[in-house]
Amino acid sequence: EMDATISITVVGASGDLAKKKIFPALFALFYEDNLPEHFTVFGYARSKMTDEQLRNMISATLTCRIDQRENCSDKMEQFLKRCFYQSGQYNSEEGFAQLDNRLREKEVGKLSNRLFYLSIPPNIFVDVVRCASLRASATIGWTRVIVEKPFGRDAESSGELTRSLKKYLKEDQIFRIDHYLGKELVENLSVLRFSNLIFEPLWSRNYIRNVQFIFSEDFGTEGRGGYFDNYGIIRDIMQNHLLQILALFAMETPVSLEAEDTRNEKVKVLRSMRTLTLDDVTIGQYKGHKKGDRSYPAYTDDPTVPNNSVTPTFAAAALFIDNARWDGVPFLMKAGKALHTRRAEIRVQFRHVPGNLYKRNFGTDLDKATNELVLRVQPDEAIYLKINNKVPGLGMRLDRSDLNLLYKTRYSKEIPDAYERLLLDAVEGERRLFIRSDELDAAWALFTPLLKELEEKKIAPELYPYGSRGPVGAHYLAAKHNVRWGDLS
Ligand code: BG6
Repeated sequence: EMDATISITVVGASGDLAKKKIFPALFALFYEDNLPEHFTVFGYARSKMTDEQLRNMISATLTCRIDQRENCSDKMEQFLKRCFYQSGQYNSEEGFAQLDNRLREKEVGKLSNRLFYLSIPPNIFVDVVRCASLRASATIGWTRVIVEKPFGRDAESSGELTRSLKKYLKEDQIFRIDHYLGKELVENLSVLRFSNLIFEPLWSRNYIRNVQFIFSEDFGTEGRGGYFDNYGIIRDIMQNHLLQILALFAMETPVSLEAEDTRNEKVKVLRSMRTLTLDDVTIGQYKGHKKGDRSYPAYTDDPTVPNNSVTPTFAAAALFIDNARWDGVPFLMKAGKALHTRRAEIRVQFRHVPGNLYKRNFGTDLDKATNELVLRVQPDEAIYLKINNKVPGLGMRLDRSDLNLLYKTRYSKEIPDAYERLLLDAVEGERRLFIRSDELDAAWALFTPLLKELEEKKIAPELYPYGSRGPVGAHYLAAKHNVRWGDLS
């Protein structure tokens, strides 16, 4: 059997994502001996740079994640020796031909596999793919391309992008990243459901009152206002990250762990969902705020954001899955920037205990007595279950307690970054955690009419102070469906 090489070309090598996430993830994989023996990393971008300058740029962002790890600087050295740089325009066949030549030098006599990571704006994806997929060699292995959102702004533009990419690539060559699928707790969701007896039997409208998917950040869009204003929080977080988690949460049991089996189930559940309307959402935008001697900017203070922008930086939504398992169960989402804390979590609120013997111990607020399962995706990964427990002692007093699995106390090994898992999967051709085009279409179909209506009617977002818990509209939306946000009660 012929030896294989793999080259990983980061297109847009000097960008933020490349520096912050992609190169460090590649190094971490290398450090743990997860990359194949013959691999090279290429950076491709417009600026002129030498290999040496690229190495300096990369090494400035590499850290040995655990301080004073053995051999770390040696490993770094070895990794950097495998990194090269080629400059060129993104729509230049010549630039990519030069890259091709340099890739071939590394591939001589070996089967050549090539992975391209398009860390560039989507409007130039197609140019790059057109130029980069020109290759002729006797020893061609596979070519794969990783792309990352935004995949268009709505159903039409996303469909258009997919069709254009497919002029040059087959669906199984396209690896659409949603980095939330690379997160440890999200990957664990299926394990929790399908390898424990005690959850799956409860996983339906019979026992679950509502499910909440909550994303909050304690910083605004500083520095990204230009991008953000064109998209807003619904496209930035809900239509992808939160919806993907919802699909994994709610899907039926896949036939197997094969990629297509999971992806089939996700598409099915997405297609069973009700298209959102204006009644199903509430939106917000952060305003400036003074706290002590610090002052926090409004979203519209960003010079790249128009003063009269109505782009939401916060949204809450109620979604419904019209199938036998989930009929009538509200799935609530909440996502916001510039809130009081950074957190991503799933909260499952269970139904009331029928004929609860201990009813009177809970006063009038029986909602507070229901079990709640929380999966905290970040920070401080954890799974905990709120139960009612007898306070030890004479008499009968109950209180709420947690059965708590806190990752950092249970597991000593550090949790890998989402990009490590996803890059490794792309190298290995494992597609389960990537978004198939029909999934993407189904996701856009749910949100597109709503997004159009919000924009056509220029619906004004409710303002909320930077650093607050968000607009009160989110409470009304939840209350309309008899839900209380678990993170606020
Ligand atoms: C990105 C969004 O997809 O996810 C950003 O574009 C957001 O707006 C980021 O900040 C959050 O990712 P993480 O992994 O830091 O929670």
